[in-house]
Amino acid sequence: MKRIVVTGGLGFIGSHTVVELQNEGFEVVVIDDLSNSSIEVLEGIALITGITPFFENIDLKDQNAIKSFFKKYTNIAGIIHFAASKAVGESVDKPLKYYHNNISSLIYLLEEMAVNGVENFIFSSSCTVYGQADMMPITESAPFKTAESPYGNTKQMGESIIKDTANASNLNAVSLRYFNPIGAHESAKIGELPVGVPQNLIPYVMQTAIGLREQLSVYGGDYPTFDGTAIRDYIHVVDLAKAHIVAMCRLLNEKNKTSFEVFNIGTGKGSSVLEVIQAFEEVSNQKVNYKIVDRRAGDIVEAYADTSSANNDLGWYPELTLKDGLASAWKWQQSLV
Ligand code: UD1
Repeated sequence: MKRIVVTGGLGFIGSHTVVELQNEGFEVVVIDDLSNSSIEVLEGIALITGITPFFENIDLKDQNAIKSFFKKYTNIAGIIHFAASKAVGESVDKPLKYYHNNISSLIYLLEEMAVNGVENFIFSSSCTVYGQADMMPITESAPFKTAESPYGNTKQMGESIIKDTANASNLNAVSLRYFNPIGAHESAKIGELPVGVPQNLIPYVMQTAIGLREQLSVYGGDYPTFDGTAIRDYIHVVDLAKAHIVAMCRLLNEKNKTSFEVFNIGTGKGSSVLEVIQAFEEVSNQKVNYKIVDRRAGDIVEAYADTSSANNDLGWYPELTLKDGLASAWKWQQSLV
C-alpha cells in the first residue's frame, strides 16, 4: 500500500482528497495544525471511507517537528501540500503571516523531503496566479500578472520555489492551479467550514439561504459581461480532489516523470454570479435575498480555464456540474444546523 502525506488534510480540499486517496487504496498520513480546520473532520473521513487516516498535529513552520515526522513515518511515496493560509483580505493586512505560513513552511518541507529522499510532490496553486488574464479561456502558458495580494504572491512564489528546486534536484512536482472550488462530498459528512463571515460566494449564498445572513451582496453589476456580474469557473471539490489522485499516479509512474508540470483544474465553463444564484434557487427551491452593490476591490472580471492539458496529459475530466456542486453544498449546509 503506497503511503501519501497530505498536509492541510483536514481542510476543505484536503479532506476531500484524503477520501479519494483512501478510496483508491492509498494509505494516508494527514498533517494539520487545526488553525483553520476541525479535528472532527477526521471522523467525517472515517464515516465515508471506513478508515481513519494517521493524523499528526504539526505546524509546518516548525522545521524540527518536520524532522521528527520523517523519522516516525518512512516509506513515503509522495506529499500533497495543501496547508496554507488562504484569505485574500487578511493577507493584505498581515503579509508576514502569509509569507511565513505559506513560504517558510514550503521551504522547510522541501528541505526535509530532500534529506529523506521523498521525491513526489503536488502543490495547491490557484488561478489567482494569472490575475486578470488577457485571453479566455486561460491556458497554463498565460503570463503571471503582478499579484493583487500577498496571498496571490505566495502562490506565484511557491511555484517558482518548487520549479527551481525540481530543476536542481530529484524532486518531481506538479502544481495544480484550481479555479473556484465549490460543493461538498455527497454524504454531507465533510464540506467547507468557513470561519466567521464567509468571503467566498458559495458559502455566503448558503448562509443567506439558511437564514444566517440577511442578504448576499453581489459585488458589481456593471462588469463588461452578458449580465453585468463577474464570471468564474466553479469546479466541484470532489472532481478537484480526484485530479490530485491522477496527478499523484502520474508522478508515481516513472515513465511520465518530468521535473515540474502545471495544470489548470476547472470545468472550462464560466458562470456569472447571477447564474450561480439562479442555479442554486433551482436546485434548492430556496430564494436568495441579494442586492447588487459596488465591485469588490481586487476582483477580476472573468476567469475560466482551458483544461486541455489536464484532459490530455492527466486524462482528467470533471464529472459533476455547477448544480451538483450547489446541491451538495446545500445538503452540507443543512447538515450543519
Ligand atoms: C477568491 C480569491 C482567490 C482565491 C479564491 C479561493 C479574491 C479577490 N480572490 O477568488 O485568490 O484563490 O477565492 O477560493 O478574493 N462574490 C459576491 N458576493 C460575495 C462573495 C463573492 O458577489 O459575497 C462574487 C465575487 O465578486 C466573484 C465571485 O462571487 O465575482 C466569486 O468570488 P469568490 O468566491 O470570493 O472567489 P474569487 O474572488 O474568484
